Amino acid sequence: MHTPLNLGLIGAGGIGRHLAWQLRPLSEARLTGVYDVDATLAQRAAEELETTAYPSLDALLDAVDACILATPPHTHYALGMQALQRGKHLFCEKPLALTVADCDALLHAAQQAGVRLMAGQVLRLFPLFWQSRQWLQEGVIGAPIAVNLQRRGYEINLFREGWRADPTCSGGVLLEMNVHELDYLRWLLGEFTVVAAQGSQPFPEPNFVQHWQATLRFESGVIGSVECSIVDALGGYTVRIVGAEGTLEHTGFSGVIRYKKHGGHEVSLTPEEIGTPEPYLWELRSFVRAILYDETLPFDGYDGRMAVASAHAILQAMGREA
Ligand SMILES: NC(=O)c1ccc[n+]([C@@H]2O[C@H](COP(=O)([O-])OP(=O)(O)OC[C@H]3O[C@@H](n4cnc5c(N)ncnc54)[C@H](O)[C@@H]3O)[C@@H](O)[C@H]2O)c1
Repeated sequence: MHTPLNLGLIGAGGIGRHLAWQLRPLSEARLTGVYDVDATLAQRAAEELETTAYPSLDALLDAVDACILATPPHTHYALGMQALQRGKHLFCEKPLALTVADCDALLHAAQQAGVRLMAGQVLRLFPLFWQSRQWLQEGVIGAPIAVNLQRRGYEINLFREGWRADPTCSGGVLLEMNVHELDYLRWLLGEFTVVAAQGSQPFPEPNFVQHWQATLRFESGVIGSVECSIVDALGGYTVRIVGAEGTLEHTGFSGVIRYKKHGGHEVSLTPEEIGTPEPYLWELRSFVRAILYDETLPFDGYDGRMAVASAHAILQAMGREA
């Protein structure tokens, strides 16, 4: 594969344009063009990003080696399949697709075409999340015993607008947002099953669970609980892992990560002290380098598939799915 890699953007909305801006410092790739079902948006994005607006997905695919797919979840399967079947490497925003069967079909298509498939499980690359796994692997709290994750916020208005409000388009909050948390927990502590789950929909709109809790059991024996909300006025993000030799805690996207061994001093780090690269730049650089130099991806399509499968397992345990 030649450099710079020709990348196409499918979907010129919020995250698509953000990802395209992140590409700018990468000398190994260039944004060759953009396609959006809304031609006006595509044209505006092309001007902003100094690239070409293509009138159809086929026309964009003719011009590129790889694609960033940043359209609403219900479109990922069909658009992703089109790109993969044309032999294009694919970075697909999360959730990889809305059903496990569609995820599996995308994985199969990527394998058949011999191309890379990456799902945008970027949460792993945010500094405090990244550092939590580093420390666990270094054994700073010994063998993990239990994990508790809480992601709470008052985000219901975001989910009352556009495609996010329609469960057939977004998949609801578990698929649209909390696949991030489910992927992170699996990365941190390994495979898990859902012991029990319950969800609440206090408001008629959006028509899906707005606050949920689940009890998990990891194959390693670690016990876990997760609580996520889009109706919590105070909000907050916390992850706490109790280990045999100490406890580790962090506060999500900002704040601090700290651990304390039994009888020891507390050690803490801020995101600035951790100093990892900008997460969206990091994931795209990994995608590009995997294609060009066969480097290992930090997460791939299979990880995206497993996050979707976990979301469905929780919905099923809640009685929200057959
Ligand atoms: N990883 C993250 O941090 C993160 C953050 C936000 C969104 N996302 C994900 O990115 C995706 C897009 O979210 P967004 O907030 O950018 O949405 P958005 O509504 O801002 O943008 C979506 C764009 O896709 C276009 N589109 C819709 N259907 C299309 C089709 N069939 N063909 C071509 N273009 C089409 C729309 O016109 C729109 O411009 C979702 O899957 C979402 O979950 C991820």
